[in-house]
Amino acid sequence: MAKRIITTELIEEDKKIESSLRPQLLDDYIGQTKVKDNLKIYIEAAKQRKESLDHVLFFGPPGLGKTTLAGIIANEMGVNIKITSGPAIEKPGEMAAILNNLQEGDVLFLDEIHRLNRQVEEFLYPAMEDFAIDIVIGKGATAKSIRLDLPKFTLVGATTRAGMLTPPLRDRFGVVSRLEFYTIDELKEIIIRSASVFQVEIDEDGAEELARRSRGTPRLANRLLKRVRDFAQVKYDGKITKKVAEFALDLLEVDKLGLDHIDREILLTMIDKFGGGPVGIEAVATTIGEDVGTVEEVYEPYLVQNGLILRTPRGRVASDLAYRHMGREMQQNNN
Ligand SMILES: Nc1ncnc2c1ncn2[C@@H]1O[C@H](COP(=O)(O)OP(=O)(O)OP(=O)(O)O)[C@@H](O)[C@H]1O
Ligand SMILES: [Mg+2]
Repeated sequence: MAKRIITTELIEEDKKIESSLRPQLLDDYIGQTKVKDNLKIYIEAAKQRKESLDHVLFFGPPGLGKTTLAGIIANEMGVNIKITSGPAIEKPGEMAAILNNLQEGDVLFLDEIHRLNRQVEEFLYPAMEDFAIDIVIGKGATAKSIRLDLPKFTLVGATTRAGMLTPPLRDRFGVVSRLEFYTIDELKEIIIRSASVFQVEIDEDGAEELARRSRGTPRLANRLLKRVRDFAQVKYDGKITKKVAEFALDLLEVDKLGLDHIDREILLTMIDKFGGGPVGIEAVATTIGEDVGTVEEVYEPYLVQNGLILRTPRGRVASDLAYRHMGREMQQNNN
């Protein structure tokens, strides 16, 4: 699969910038108002009662701020955070060791929680519910199970695939929050904040241009900002204006709607080769020389979400918006 600059998954070049750009407190976390308002109340209440916060589950697409929120929760509660992930824990014993090392009130962040194996997941149930784990000591006839009390911790789980969580695990979270794509205005605010961290000058229109092309995703907004900053530095006087942002993003082949060359190729194939559809996804994939699964799971969702491709029972159809966006005339065709 081709490497795409507009992917919203974490890529190597993000790693250097993400830690410095992550907001540390709820007030610096932009957007996701509903999630934030809820968390504020739960955090305040837990602090007043001097209790640990309920277990929290965040779900939603990559790059929208799940990991960031886990860190913010720990900061706001004034506790430590231990970070690990579903696939990293192979055995119940490893989970036991992690849990046993937590202190009262600590946050345990479990990323990709949908990838916990069954045994580890079941071991976690009593830990979440009763703050206790059952450990088997010895082997065979002399083996016995003892119950070990744990400090009252907060499990913060994150997943991009909420549908893959088992109901018993999901039900053990007191707070379940879905993160949404960000609006242009929210992304603009994030970009302006990140620019001040980078100490690069940006004006409102420059920030808006970047926001429009960031696919609703802060991670991508920050990545594009970093790229555009380099252009501004080398080609212009360092300041990011609309003109600089347009120039740089056009060169990077990220268009006005945040589409890249593959997205555009898909739309043009549908319009020029298949009369705008209806066309099967297999035919489109074959024509552009891509794997069907990749087209369906990686490329198509953003195009569908933004109304460029319509899914009909007879196949995919390129919308009016797709025609306009690609600068093609729609054929009058009423059959
Ligand atoms: N609400 C926000 N305000 C400001 N910056 C944000 C916000 N949400 C995310 N970011 C920025 O976007 C980057 C990506 O966010 P984060 O790593 O938390 O996403 P994620 O949902 O955990 O992604 P993944 O599913 O890939 O793990 C962060 O480094 C942070 O700088
Ligand atoms: Mg994350």
